[in-house]
Amino acid sequence: MNQLHKNPFRIYEICFTFCTSIFLCLLLLSAQAVAGGGGGHSWDGIVVTQGNYQALQAIKHELIDFTGVLRSWNDSSTTSVCSGGWAGIKCLRGQVVAIQLPWKGLGGTISEKIGQLQNLRKLSLHDNVLAGSVPRSLGYLKNLHGVYLFNNRLSGSVPASLGNCPLLQNLDLSNNQLSGIIPASLAESTRLYRLNLSFNLLSGPLPVTVARSYTLTFLDLGHNNLSGSIPDFSVNGSHPLKKLNLDHNFFSGPVPLSLCKQSLLEEVSLSHNQLFGSFPKECGALLHLQSLDLSYNSINGTIPERIGNISGIRQLDLSENNFTGLIPPSLANLANLSSFNVSFNTLSGPVPPILSRKFNSSSFVGNIQLCGYSSSTPCPSPKPHHPPTLSPTSPQEPRKHHRKLSVKDIILIAIGALLAVLLLLCCILLCCLIKKRAALKQKDGKDKITEKTATATAAASAGGEMGGKLVHFDGPFVFTADDLLCATAEIMGKSTYGTAYKATLEDGNEVAVKRLREKTTKGVKEFEAEVTALGKIRHTNLLALRAYYLGPKGEKLLVFDYMSKGSLSAFLHARGPETLIPWQTRMKIAKGISRGLAHLHKNENMIHENLTASNILLDEKTNAHIADYGLSRLMTAAAATNVIATAGTLGYRAPEFSKIKNASTKTDVYSLGIIILELLTGKSPGEPTNGMDLPQWVASIVKEEWTNEVFDLELMRETQTVGDELLNTLKLALHCVDPSPAARPEAIQVVNQLEEIRPEAETETIGSGGDGAKEEEGI
Ligand SMILES: *[C@@H]1O[C@H](CO)[C@@H](O)[C@H](O)[C@H]1NC(C)=O
Ligand SMILES: *[C@@H]1O[C@H](CO)[C@@H](O)[C@H](O)[C@H]1NC(C)=O
Ligand SMILES: *[C@@H]1O[C@H](CO)[C@@H](O)[C@H](O)[C@H]1NC(C)=O
Ligand SMILES: *[C@@H]1O[C@H](CO)[C@@H](O)[C@H](O)[C@H]1NC(C)=O
Ligand SMILES: *[C@@H]1O[C@H](CO)[C@@H](O)[C@H](O)[C@H]1NC(C)=O
Ligand SMILES: *[C@@H]1O[C@H](CO)[C@@H](O)[C@H](O)[C@H]1NC(C)=O
Ligand SMILES: *[C@@H]1O[C@H](CO)[C@@H](O)[C@H](O)[C@H]1NC(C)=O
Ligand SMILES: *[C@@H]1O[C@H](CO)[C@@H](O)[C@H](O)[C@H]1NC(C)=O
Ligand SMILES: *[C@@H]1O[C@H](CO)[C@@H](O)[C@H](O)[C@H]1NC(C)=O
Ligand SMILES: *[C@@H]1O[C@H](CO)[C@@H](O)[C@H](O)[C@H]1NC(C)=O
Repeated sequence: MNQLHKNPFRIYEICFTFCTSIFLCLLLLSAQAVAGGGGGHSWDGIVVTQGNYQALQAIKHELIDFTGVLRSWNDSSTTSVCSGGWAGIKCLRGQVVAIQLPWKGLGGTISEKIGQLQNLRKLSLHDNVLAGSVPRSLGYLKNLHGVYLFNNRLSGSVPASLGNCPLLQNLDLSNNQLSGIIPASLAESTRLYRLNLSFNLLSGPLPVTVARSYTLTFLDLGHNNLSGSIPDFSVNGSHPLKKLNLDHNFFSGPVPLSLCKQSLLEEVSLSHNQLFGSFPKECGALLHLQSLDLSYNSINGTIPERIGNISGIRQLDLSENNFTGLIPPSLANLANLSSFNVSFNTLSGPVPPILSRKFNSSSFVGNIQLCGYSSSTPCPSPKPHHPPTLSPTSPQEPRKHHRKLSVKDIILIAIGALLAVLLLLCCILLCCLIKKRAALKQKDGKDKITEKTATATAAASAGGEMGGKLVHFDGPFVFTADDLLCATAEIMGKSTYGTAYKATLEDGNEVAVKRLREKTTKGVKEFEAEVTALGKIRHTNLLALRAYYLGPKGEKLLVFDYMSKGSLSAFLHARGPETLIPWQTRMKIAKGISRGLAHLHKNENMIHENLTASNILLDEKTNAHIADYGLSRLMTAAAATNVIATAGTLGYRAPEFSKIKNASTKTDVYSLGIIILELLTGKSPGEPTNGMDLPQWVASIVKEEWTNEVFDLELMRETQTVGDELLNTLKLALHCVDPSPAARPEAIQVVNQLEEIRPEAETETIGSGGDGAKEEEGI
C-alpha cells in the first residue's frame, strides 16, 4: 500500500487541486520529473519565452559541464525547455522558476544573464565546483526565494544587491571563498529566514541590521574572519532566532545582554572568538536552549546559577575561558545534559557529585582549585571536622603539636571518613533511585515536551503572498512553506485520509507529507486545535507529526517523519524470498507497536480505531512507528464514520465492532492481536485460509496440536532456541483476539507480557534520530 506508484494520474490530481498556487505547481513539476522522467508529456504546451531561452543559453555558455549533464540543454526545440527536457529546469507559463543542478560537477561561472530570468524563485547549484563571483544581477529577481550555492569555489563578495529581493527566505553561500564584508542590506529582504555564510573569508562586523532582523531564524556565520563586538540583538516585538553560530571568528567584547532575551534560541555557539567580560546571568532565561558553546574565549566571572533552570539543555561547553568560583550545584539538575565541559578555567571548590559521576576528568581538568572529580583530585575534608585550634597555630610551631594532634587527627579523620562513606552510600542510593525512576519513566514512554512545542512557532516567513500558513512542531527539520512545496515529491500511497508523498527537501532531509482530502476535514479553527494537540504527541513508537500547512484554497498538508523501510505490511508480505525476518526483529516490532498503542491509550486517552499492518511504519532500524492515529479527529464526523466503516475489510476489525460501531481500547487490542498473529504466521489477515479468518485458522490448528505448523516457515529454524517464546507469544496473541472484548488484555498488559516472554536486550529499543546533515538530493 505504501509503495511508490509511478503514476502520472495521481500527480495530475494534485495539480487540479493545487495548481491555484505557484508553489504547488513546482511540487507538481518535481513530482512529474521523478515519476515520469519527462517522457514527452508537455502537458501545458507552453513554449519558453525568448528572453528566458537566451538567458539559459548564456548561462550554459559560461558553465563548464564536466559530466555532460547540460547536453540536454540543446537547440533542438524551445518546447522541450519547459516540459522536462532540459535537466534541472522548472517553468511556469513559459518562465523559468527554478534551476536545480546540485552535485553535477559543474565548473565555470554563473552568468550575470541569470538576472533576466525574471520569475526565478529557486537557484540551487550547491555542491559543484563553480568559481567566479555570485552574480550581482540576482538582485533584480523580485521572486527569488531560495539561493543555494554552498560547497563551491565562489569568490568575491556577497552581493549587497541580494537585499533587493523582497521574497528571499533562504540564502546559503556557505563553504566558498567569499571575502569582504557582510552587506547590511541583506536584512532588507524582509522574509529572510535562514542565512548561512559560514566557512568563507568574510571580515568586518556582523551588521546590526542582520542581528535585528524580525524574520531570521537560522544564522550561521561560523568559520570566517569577522570581528568587532557582537551587536545588540534587541528588537521590540518577537524575534524568531533559534540558532546562532558565530564560532571561529575574531569577535571581541562581552556577550550582549540582548542575546539572552532571544527566548526561542535553541543553539548558540560563540566558541573560538575573543569574547571577554562576564556571561550574563539573564541567559538563564533561555529556556529552549539545547546547546551552548562558549569555549575558547576569555569570559570571566562566575558560571550563572540560573543555567540550572534550562532544563532541556544537552550540551554545555565553557572550556578554555576564565570562569571563576564554584560550579553551581543547580547544574546537577540538568537531566538531559549529555555533554559538559568546564576544563581550563579558574574554577574552584567541589564538583557536584552527579556531574563528576556523569562526566570524566577531561571535562574538569585545568582548573587548579577544582576538586572531587577524580581520585587524584580529592576535596579537602569538610571544615567542621577540623579542630578550631589547628589553623592559627600550625605555621609557627608545627613540630611541637604534631604528635598530640595527630592522635586527635586520626580519630577525626576516621569519623570524617566514616561520614564520607555514609554520605557516598546515600548518594549512590539516591542516584540509583533517580536512575530507576528515570528508567521507569522511559519505559513508560512518556516523553515530556517543553512548552515550546505547544506554542508551535509559526514560521514567520511562511505567511507568504499566497496566504498559506506553515506551523512547525518540535523536530529536527528546517524548512519554510516554500521549501516544502518546492520539494521533490514522490507518491507513496493513498489511504482513506488522503495521499502520502515522500518529499526531499533542499538540504537532503526527507519527510513524509500527507495531503488530506479537503472536503472531509473539519473547518480551519477546529482543525488547527486538533492538529496542534496531535503535534504534541511524542513517543518512540508513534509517528511524529512535525508540521502542518494550510494552503490558501483550503489544502491541508501534514508533515511527518519519513520512515525508510515503509509499512509493516510491505515489509512482511512484499519481500524477496531471500530476505528473512528473524524472530528477534518480529518481536521488536510487536513490542514497539504494543508500547505505542499503550501510550496512546494510557497517556493520550486516544483510540486508534484503524490499526493495521499498513499503518505501522518502520524506520531504518526496523523500529515500529504507528501512523494515522488521531487523524479521524481532523475529519468531519461523517467522514470519520465512513473511515471506520471501511476499515474492517482487511481483517483487523474486532467482531463486535460491526454491531456496536463503537471503537474501544479493546477493539484496538484485537487489531494488535491480529498484527502479532501476522508476525508469527507470515500470513496476511486479508487472505482467508481454508475459508477461515486468521484467528480462526490459527485456533483450528492449535486445537489439533499441530502447533508448529502455525508459524512462518522461516521461523521454524529458530524453534530450537526460541520455541517457547513463539508459543507464548502465540498464546498472548490469541488472548488479544478473544471474541469477548472483556477477556482481552489492555495494551499495557500486552507490553508487560511481551517483555516477560523476551526480556529486553538494551540494543533493541534504540530510537532513531533525524540529523540535519546535508545529504544527497534526489531531483
Ligand atoms: C537534445 O537533447 C535531447 C534530450 O537529452 C536528446 O534526446 C537529443 O538527442 C538532443 N539533440 C541533439 C541535437 O543533441
Ligand atoms: C551552514 O553551512 C555549513 C556548511 O555548509 C553547515 O555545516 C551548517 O550546518 C549550516 N548551518 C545551518 C544553520 O544551516
Ligand atoms: C583574518 O583577519 C586577520 C586580521 O584580523 C588577518 O591578519 C588575516 O590575514 C585574515 N585572514 C584571512 C584568511 O583573511
Ligand atoms: C520599536 O522601537 C522604536 C524605537 O527603538 C520605536 O520607534 C517604535 O515605535 C517601536 N515599535 C513598537 C511596535 O513598539
Ligand atoms: C584570566 O584572568 C587573569 C586575571 O584575573 C589573567 O591574568 C589571565 O590572563 C586570564 N586568562 C585568560 C585565559 O584570559
Ligand atoms: C573580567 O575581565 C574584565 C576585563 O577583561 C575586567 O574588567 C573585570 O574586572 C573582570 N571581572 C572579574 C569578575 O574578574
Ligand atoms: C530558577 O530556578 C530556581 C529554583 O531552582 C527558582 O527559584 C528561580 O525562580 C528560577 N528562575 C527563573 C527565572 O525561572
Ligand atoms: C530530555 O530529552 C528527552 C529526549 O530527547 C526529551 O523528550 C525531553 O523533553 C527532554 N527534557 C527536557 C526537560 O527538555
Ligand atoms: C571522557 O569522555 C569523553 C566523552 O565524553 C571521551 O571522548 C574521552 O575519551 C573520555 N576520556 C577518558 C580519559 O576517559
Ligand atoms: C573539554 O575541552 C577541552 C578543551 O577544549 C578538550 O581538550 C577536552 O577533550 C574536552 N572534554 C570533553 C569531555 O569534551
